Amino acid sequence: MRLESLYVDHFRCIRRCDLQAAPGINCIVGDNASGKTSVLESIYILGRGQSFRQSQLSQAIHHDARALTVRALVENDDLGATHRIGCHITKRETAFKLDNQTTTRRYDLISALPLQHIDPNVHRLLEEGPQHRRHFLDWGVFHVEHAFFPAWRRYRRALKQRNRALRYQRPKHEIVAWDAELVEQGEIVDACRRRYLALVKEQLPENTEALIGEDALVFEYQPGWRGNDGYGAALAATLDQDVKARFTGNGPHRADIRINIAATRARDWVSRGQQKILTAALLLAQAHILNDLRGLKPILLIDDMAAELGQSYRETLAKEIVRSQAQCFITFLDRSLIPRVLSDERVFHVEQGVVSA
Ligand SMILES: Nc1ncnc2c1ncn2[C@@H]1O[C@H](COP(=O)(O)OP(=O)(O)OP(=O)(O)O)[C@@H](O)[C@H]1O
Ligand SMILES: [Mg+2]
Repeated sequence: MRLESLYVDHFRCIRRCDLQAAPGINCIVGDNASGKTSVLESIYILGRGQSFRQSQLSQAIHHDARALTVRALVENDDLGATHRIGCHITKRETAFKLDNQTTTRRYDLISALPLQHIDPNVHRLLEEGPQHRRHFLDWGVFHVEHAFFPAWRRYRRALKQRNRALRYQRPKHEIVAWDAELVEQGEIVDACRRRYLALVKEQLPENTEALIGEDALVFEYQPGWRGNDGYGAALAATLDQDVKARFTGNGPHRADIRINIAATRARDWVSRGQQKILTAALLLAQAHILNDLRGLKPILLIDDMAAELGQSYRETLAKEIVRSQAQCFITFLDRSLIPRVLSDERVFHVEQGVVSA
């Protein structure tokens, strides 16, 4: 994937920006609060339909304006296809357009503009709750396993209904009426995740050895239920528990992956800088898998790449980024922080919301 051009109008502190991106590495340099993260955020919104700042999209409208616009021309080199993706956001409405078709489905955006985001909080993947790891896993599964998304959607729908029945303390037959659908779709979701994780495991050594050394990295997949008799048996066995708790406590919506290095949980063993580099390696491994299997190179958005990394880690990570051959947008506080291997690439400067080449 290649973002050829990006047009931004009244997005946070950026009044207007019209940039032609390089096919490879694009470095974005500027002081604190100049608007670097906002540039990445605007691209992210086009590819995900939501922000990574976890705020309402309308909050991104420049405070002097009534609406914001972001547009991009995206080239899919492998298919020879070009997409125009745009969004227009007012206080009341959010509209996305894909090739002149209005769309509200995040599915369409994610498919048209696959992107990975690595920010200074990327270590959350190791440190915090399972939802971050599920999100990491499912992004890759979504792109590689076609059966995943429809099954996940149906699973979520059935789960919602079952939870509603539990919440309102409906009779048991109304609760278990959802179980067959939950089990059927849940097992497809589970199988897709397992297959995908096996690919990540295969891909990882190549990515991580250069970054964290040769200690074996072990994934322990937890499907979201206990026991070896399948999801159906686990669901039946925990019915009384669910009735008491008034929600479904087991299932693929509770899946997790434990990431261990030499039998110790990664988050307990590695330094903060290593955590960052390890998580970056996981995300880069996903990018390689997507390329190998689908011929798709996701665009990488890397915010404040130098944060928490000394020079040697920065150089190592930069080499891995170059090896991924993906188009990247990488922000730096200062030009001197750009690793040597990236120093010949295109640099944009951001100053008080103005982006210049
Ligand atoms: N809706 C908005 N309207 C105008 N300005 C906004 C809006 N939302 C956020 N800002 C401002 O935009 C500025 C730039 O934010 P951004 O996070 O992009 O900076 P940055 O260059 O990434 O900074 P840092 O290096 O500290 O991460 C901030 O000062 C923020 O207060
Ligand atoms: Mg920032």
